[in-house]
Amino acid sequence: MKKLHRFHTYQDGPAMAAAATTYFVETCAAVLAQKDKCSVCLSGGSTPKRMFKLLASDVWKDKVDWSKLFIFWGDERSVPQESPDSNSGEAMRLLFDLVPIPKENIFAINGALTPAEAAEDYETTLETFFGDHEPVFDLCFLGMGDDGHTASLFPYTDIIYEEEYWVKEVFVKKLDTTRISLTPEIINQAARIVFLIGGENKAAVLEEVLNGDFNPEKLPSQLVIRSGAEITFFLDEGAAGELDLGDV
Ligand code: 6PG
Repeated sequence: MKKLHRFHTYQDGPAMAAAATTYFVETCAAVLAQKDKCSVCLSGGSTPKRMFKLLASDVWKDKVDWSKLFIFWGDERSVPQESPDSNSGEAMRLLFDLVPIPKENIFAINGALTPAEAAEDYETTLETFFGDHEPVFDLCFLGMGDDGHTASLFPYTDIIYEEEYWVKEVFVKKLDTTRISLTPEIINQAARIVFLIGGENKAAVLEEVLNGDFNPEKLPSQLVIRSGAEITFFLDEGAAGELDLGDV
Protein backbone atom coordinates (compact mmCIF):
# COMPACT_ATOMS: atom_id res chain seq x y z
CA MET A 1 0.00 0.00 0.00
CA LYS A 2 2.87 2.33 0.85
CA LYS A 3 4.04 1.93 -2.74
CA LEU A 4 0.86 3.75 -3.73
CA HIS A 5 2.31 6.96 -2.45
CA ARG A 6 4.53 9.58 -4.07
CA PHE A 7 7.21 11.18 -1.92
CA HIS A 8 8.91 14.45 -2.82
CA THR A 9 11.60 15.50 -0.33
CA TYR A 10 13.35 18.88 -0.19
CA GLN A 11 16.23 20.29 1.79
CA ASP A 12 14.12 22.73 3.75
CA GLY A 13 10.72 24.38 4.15
CA PRO A 14 11.17 27.04 1.48
CA ALA A 15 12.19 24.46 -1.13
CA MET A 16 9.25 22.24 -0.16
CA ALA A 17 6.87 25.20 -0.41
CA ALA A 18 8.20 26.13 -3.85
CA ALA A 19 7.59 22.58 -5.07
CA ALA A 20 4.13 22.46 -3.52
CA THR A 21 3.28 25.77 -5.20
CA THR A 22 4.29 24.42 -8.58
CA TYR A 23 2.19 21.33 -7.90
CA PHE A 24 -0.79 23.47 -6.87
CA VAL A 25 -0.64 25.58 -10.05
CA GLU A 26 -0.03 22.65 -12.38
CA THR A 27 -2.70 20.45 -10.82
CA CYS A 28 -5.36 23.16 -10.89
CA ALA A 29 -4.53 23.83 -14.54
CA ALA A 30 -4.81 20.12 -15.34
CA VAL A 31 -8.20 19.91 -13.62
CA LEU A 32 -9.43 23.01 -15.44
CA ALA A 33 -8.33 21.52 -18.74
CA GLN A 34 -11.00 18.87 -18.09
CA LYS A 35 -13.78 20.90 -16.43
CA ASP A 36 -14.71 24.47 -15.54
CA LYS A 37 -14.43 24.26 -11.74
CA CYS A 38 -11.60 23.14 -9.50
CA SER A 39 -12.41 22.52 -5.84
CA VAL A 40 -9.47 22.81 -3.45
CA CYS A 41 -9.62 21.92 0.25
CA LEU A 42 -6.90 23.53 2.34
CA SER A 43 -5.36 22.59 5.65
CA GLY A 44 -4.63 25.00 8.43
CA GLY A 45 -1.56 25.25 10.60
CA SER A 46 1.72 26.91 9.68
CA THR A 47 3.18 24.65 7.00
CA PRO A 48 1.02 25.79 4.07
CA LYS A 49 1.60 29.51 4.77
CA ARG A 50 4.78 29.66 2.67
CA MET A 51 2.81 28.19 -0.25
CA PHE A 52 0.03 30.74 0.26
CA LYS A 53 2.57 33.57 0.13
CA LEU A 54 4.18 32.18 -3.02
CA LEU A 55 0.80 31.78 -4.75
CA ALA A 56 0.09 35.46 -3.99
CA SER A 57 3.50 36.55 -5.31
CA ASP A 58 4.07 38.19 -8.69
CA VAL A 59 5.82 35.01 -9.84
CA TRP A 60 2.72 32.83 -9.46
CA LYS A 61 -0.51 34.80 -8.95
CA ASP A 62 -1.14 35.28 -12.67
CA LYS A 63 -0.62 31.58 -13.39
CA VAL A 64 -3.89 30.53 -11.75
CA ASP A 65 -7.39 31.04 -13.14
CA TRP A 66 -8.72 32.12 -9.75
CA SER A 67 -12.23 32.63 -11.11
CA LYS A 68 -12.55 28.87 -11.54
CA LEU A 69 -11.11 27.82 -8.18
CA PHE A 70 -13.45 27.04 -5.30
CA ILE A 71 -11.83 26.99 -1.89
CA PHE A 72 -12.73 24.92 1.18
CA TRP A 73 -11.03 24.01 4.46
CA GLY A 74 -10.44 20.63 6.08
CA ASP A 75 -10.85 22.06 9.54
CA GLU A 76 -11.19 25.24 11.53
CA ARG A 77 -10.73 26.49 15.00
CA SER A 78 -13.65 28.00 16.91
CA VAL A 79 -12.44 31.55 16.43
CA PRO A 80 -13.53 34.47 14.22
CA GLN A 81 -11.62 35.01 10.98
CA GLU A 82 -9.93 38.06 12.49
CA SER A 83 -8.07 35.76 14.87
CA PRO A 84 -4.49 34.78 13.90
CA ASP A 85 -5.58 31.25 14.85
CA SER A 86 -8.19 31.17 12.11
CA ASN A 87 -7.17 28.83 9.29
CA SER A 88 -9.37 30.58 6.75
CA GLY A 89 -8.51 34.00 8.17
CA GLU A 90 -4.80 33.41 7.71
CA ALA A 91 -5.32 32.08 4.17
CA MET A 92 -7.41 35.18 3.33
CA ARG A 93 -4.74 37.54 4.68
CA LEU A 94 -1.81 35.69 3.04
CA LEU A 95 -3.44 34.79 -0.27
CA PHE A 96 -7.09 35.27 -1.14
CA ASP A 97 -7.26 38.97 -0.28
CA LEU A 98 -4.34 39.45 -2.68
CA VAL A 99 -5.53 37.60 -5.80
CA PRO A 100 -8.59 38.07 -8.04
CA ILE A 101 -10.66 35.19 -6.65
CA PRO A 102 -14.36 35.99 -6.35
CA LYS A 103 -15.36 36.06 -2.69
CA GLU A 104 -18.30 33.80 -3.53
CA ASN A 105 -15.77 31.11 -4.50
CA ILE A 106 -14.45 30.92 -0.96
CA PHE A 107 -16.25 28.67 1.52
CA ALA A 108 -14.84 29.21 5.01
CA ILE A 109 -16.01 27.25 8.00
CA ASN A 110 -17.78 29.80 10.17
CA GLY A 111 -15.71 29.79 13.35
CA ALA A 112 -17.90 32.49 14.82
CA LEU A 113 -20.82 30.04 15.18
CA THR A 114 -20.89 27.44 17.93
CA PRO A 115 -18.88 24.39 16.79
CA ALA A 116 -22.00 22.28 16.34
CA GLU A 117 -23.72 25.04 14.36
CA ALA A 118 -20.57 25.59 12.27
CA ALA A 119 -20.35 21.90 11.45
CA GLU A 120 -24.00 21.74 10.42
CA ASP A 121 -23.65 24.96 8.45
CA TYR A 122 -20.59 23.65 6.57
CA GLU A 123 -22.28 20.37 5.77
CA THR A 124 -25.05 22.40 4.13
CA THR A 125 -22.43 24.43 2.27
CA LEU A 126 -20.91 21.24 0.89
CA GLU A 127 -24.30 19.82 -0.06
CA THR A 128 -25.15 23.00 -1.91
CA PHE A 129 -21.86 23.19 -3.81
CA PHE A 130 -21.57 19.51 -4.71
CA GLY A 131 -25.26 19.07 -5.42
CA ASP A 132 -26.82 15.65 -5.13
CA HIS A 133 -23.62 13.65 -4.91
CA GLU A 134 -21.00 13.15 -2.23
CA PRO A 135 -18.36 15.90 -2.08
CA VAL A 136 -15.23 15.00 -4.04
CA PHE A 137 -12.55 17.67 -3.79
CA ASP A 138 -10.33 17.87 -6.84
CA LEU A 139 -7.39 18.61 -4.56
CA CYS A 140 -7.11 18.23 -0.79
CA PHE A 141 -4.12 19.54 1.14
CA LEU A 142 -3.45 18.15 4.59
CA GLY A 143 -0.84 18.63 7.27
CA MET A 144 0.11 16.36 10.12
CA GLY A 145 0.79 17.14 13.74
CA ASP A 146 3.59 15.53 15.74
CA ASP A 147 0.91 13.48 17.50
CA GLY A 148 -0.25 11.97 14.20
CA HIS A 149 -3.40 14.07 13.78
CA THR A 150 -4.52 15.49 10.47
CA ALA A 151 -7.21 18.11 9.91
CA SER A 152 -8.77 17.99 13.37
CA LEU A 153 -8.83 14.22 13.55
CA PHE A 154 -6.99 14.07 16.85
CA PRO A 155 -5.97 10.91 18.69
CA TYR A 156 -8.65 9.28 20.84
CA THR A 157 -11.45 11.55 19.65
CA ASP A 158 -14.90 10.39 18.54
CA ILE A 159 -14.65 11.95 15.08
CA ILE A 160 -12.27 9.14 14.10
CA TYR A 161 -15.29 6.81 13.98
CA GLU A 162 -17.74 9.26 12.38
CA GLU A 163 -19.45 7.69 9.35
CA GLU A 164 -22.76 9.56 9.14
CA TYR A 165 -21.69 13.19 8.82
CA TRP A 166 -19.21 14.91 6.50
CA VAL A 167 -18.39 17.64 9.05
CA LYS A 168 -18.39 17.38 12.84
CA GLU A 169 -17.38 19.36 15.88
CA VAL A 170 -14.66 17.69 17.92
CA PHE A 171 -13.54 18.48 21.47
CA VAL A 172 -9.75 18.24 21.64
CA LYS A 173 -8.89 17.62 25.29
CA LYS A 174 -5.15 18.32 24.93
CA LEU A 175 -5.95 21.74 23.49
CA ASP A 176 -8.99 22.27 25.73
CA THR A 177 -10.90 23.52 22.70
CA THR A 178 -13.54 22.37 20.26
CA ARG A 179 -12.73 22.40 16.55
CA ILE A 180 -14.71 21.74 13.39
CA SER A 181 -13.36 19.14 10.96
CA LEU A 182 -14.15 17.18 7.85
CA THR A 183 -14.59 13.52 8.71
CA PRO A 184 -12.28 10.78 7.39
CA GLU A 185 -14.77 9.61 4.77
CA ILE A 186 -15.01 12.94 2.95
CA ILE A 187 -11.28 13.59 3.12
CA ASN A 188 -10.60 10.18 1.59
CA GLN A 189 -13.03 10.83 -1.24
CA ALA A 190 -10.82 13.60 -2.63
CA ALA A 191 -9.48 12.99 -6.11
CA ARG A 192 -5.97 14.04 -5.04
CA ILE A 193 -4.70 14.07 -1.46
CA VAL A 194 -1.49 15.95 -0.67
CA PHE A 195 0.33 16.09 2.66
CA LEU A 196 2.71 18.96 3.33
CA ILE A 197 4.88 17.94 6.30
CA GLY A 198 7.96 19.74 7.56
CA GLY A 199 10.22 19.59 10.57
CA GLU A 200 12.30 17.00 12.41
CA ASN A 201 9.58 16.82 15.06
CA LYS A 202 7.35 15.05 12.53
CA ALA A 203 9.94 12.44 11.45
CA ALA A 204 9.21 9.74 14.02
CA VAL A 205 5.45 9.97 13.81
CA LEU A 206 5.49 10.01 10.02
CA GLU A 207 7.55 6.83 9.97
CA GLU A 208 5.17 5.21 12.45
CA VAL A 209 2.10 6.33 10.51
CA LEU A 210 3.52 4.84 7.32
CA ASN A 211 5.24 1.70 8.58
CA GLY A 212 3.99 1.07 12.11
CA ASP A 213 1.04 -0.96 13.33
CA PHE A 214 -2.32 0.23 12.05
CA ASN A 215 -3.72 2.06 15.04
CA PRO A 216 -5.82 5.01 13.81
CA GLU A 217 -7.13 5.78 17.28
CA LYS A 218 -3.56 6.65 18.25
CA LEU A 219 -2.50 7.88 14.78
CA PRO A 220 -5.54 9.32 12.99
CA SER A 221 -3.47 10.28 9.92
CA GLN A 222 -3.49 6.55 9.17
CA LEU A 223 -7.21 6.86 8.39
CA VAL A 224 -6.10 8.74 5.28
CA ILE A 225 -2.58 7.51 4.62
CA ARG A 226 -3.44 3.83 5.07
CA SER A 227 -6.87 4.09 3.42
CA GLY A 228 -5.73 2.73 0.08
CA ALA A 229 -5.85 6.16 -1.53
CA GLU A 230 -2.78 7.32 -3.44
CA ILE A 231 -1.17 10.13 -1.46
CA THR A 232 1.36 12.70 -2.61
CA PHE A 233 3.79 13.84 0.08
CA PHE A 234 5.84 17.01 0.06
CA LEU A 235 8.39 16.72 2.85
CA ASP A 236 11.45 18.54 4.01
CA GLU A 237 14.52 16.51 4.98
CA GLY A 238 13.69 16.92 8.65
CA ALA A 239 10.28 15.29 8.34
CA ALA A 240 11.66 12.58 6.04
CA GLY A 241 14.56 11.88 8.40
CA GLU A 242 13.34 8.45 9.52
CA LEU A 243 12.03 7.23 6.19
CA ASP A 244 13.88 4.83 3.95
CA LEU A 245 12.30 6.10 0.77
CA GLY A 246 13.80 3.21 -1.08
CA ASP A 247 11.15 0.96 0.44
CA VAL A 248 8.01 3.03 0.42
C1 6PG B 1 -4.88 22.90 11.96
C2 6PG B 1 -4.58 21.94 10.83
C3 6PG B 1 -3.79 20.80 11.35
C4 6PG B 1 -2.38 21.02 10.85
C5 6PG B 1 -1.39 20.21 11.64
C6 6PG B 1 0.04 20.57 11.24
O1 6PG B 1 -5.99 23.45 11.99
O2 6PG B 1 -3.96 23.11 12.75
O3 6PG B 1 -5.47 21.72 9.93
O4 6PG B 1 -4.26 19.54 10.98
O5 6PG B 1 -2.30 20.68 9.47
O6 6PG B 1 -1.60 20.51 13.02
O7 6PG B 1 0.24 21.92 11.60
P1 6PG B 1 1.60 22.66 11.21
O8 6PG B 1 1.60 22.84 9.73
O9 6PG B 1 1.51 23.99 11.93
O10 6PG B 1 2.73 21.80 11.70
